[in-house]
Amino acid sequence: MKVADLHYRTIWPDARCKFVEVIDQTKLPFAFEIVRVQSSEQMAHAISTMQVRGAPLIGVAAAYGMALAMLEDESDDYLAQAAELLIASRPTAVNLAWAVGRMVTALQATPHTRRNFTAWRLAANIAEEDIAQNQAIGQYGLELIKNAYQNQLIRNKPFNILTHCNAGWLATVDFGTALSPIYAAHDAGLNVHVWVGETRPRNQGAFLTAWELAQHGVPHTVITDNAGGHLMQQGLVDMVIVGADRVTANGDVCNKIGTYLKALAAFDSNIPFYAAVPTPTIDWALISGEHIEIEERHAGEVGHIQGWAQNMGTDGKLQTVRVMPLESSAANPAFDVTPARLVTGIITEKGVFAPQNLHECK
Ligand code: MRU
Repeated sequence: MKVADLHYRTIWPDARCKFVEVIDQTKLPFAFEIVRVQSSEQMAHAISTMQVRGAPLIGVAAAYGMALAMLEDESDDYLAQAAELLIASRPTAVNLAWAVGRMVTALQATPHTRRNFTAWRLAANIAEEDIAQNQAIGQYGLELIKNAYQNQLIRNKPFNILTHCNAGWLATVDFGTALSPIYAAHDAGLNVHVWVGETRPRNQGAFLTAWELAQHGVPHTVITDNAGGHLMQQGLVDMVIVGADRVTANGDVCNKIGTYLKALAAFDSNIPFYAAVPTPTIDWALISGEHIEIEERHAGEVGHIQGWAQNMGTDGKLQTVRVMPLESSAANPAFDVTPARLVTGIITEKGVFAPQNLHECK
């Protein structure tokens, strides 16, 4: 994707495979900064502090974390230790454990002296696969949008898509999942407009999705998290597309906290609700969503909010303010589970599946 006319991915290795660079997502949209990640420990830190975030991206980041580990020490013990550290960095998105598991399996089967080489090559393959999967999701999602757009009764109004959190290119290596069909529709000349839920507490919608869409010139409007249901009742939402951190075998969709409420409202207003997910996000080992570990993040994320000081323009003067009484405590579950019965379809790189037919993409 382009940032100020330059093509970027969210993560890339140094040409000599000595370190990795990532876009620091804790700084967006206030500043565009690249950080250098030089060890497996630093990669685990980048994931847990959400410098890199989004299910597919943390999978790729963890794969590169394993490659960094093999620069440090190619022994069996260190391989196991690095895998444990990286898997523990965030619990909910299955892509992370999936990518680390894939690296471990390949590296265990590789002689110690070749592990470093193999690790960097496999991490790069996982990154390329992610891009290809997201591009394919974009094309399948584009067909859904085109069909719905053609059926739209009033042709001169935009096709309104509501999304939550950030499942754009920032959450992947490139293209995104939920936003990939939207970029494809916009590029194909369809009149799409995106309602972007701000996604408290960390504001991935207002900070990251809005920034991405603006970079690409896609018309969009940021709304409070509570506005989605109202807009749906008013006939102002034609489709909901979200990403996911884990989809279970029965089609339950675990995604950023607040997704469930949007799915309920969409169901009540008869609006199609899609989750766009590459197949590494599907956890075939779990039969339903209640078995997923939901990350509980620091309460400080709820009690504080970060932003530009009013009237300061974009001069980088960031402020953090408290938004609740000092005496109050806060809870911060980061994800929720939308039951399969509320999900119209799951858009994967292999096609679009009703939740009850998800096994067909195995
Ligand atoms: O806590 P985050 O920002 O990592 O959560 C991200 C999401 O919930 C995304 O919707 C999900 O990972 C899908 S990303 C393609």
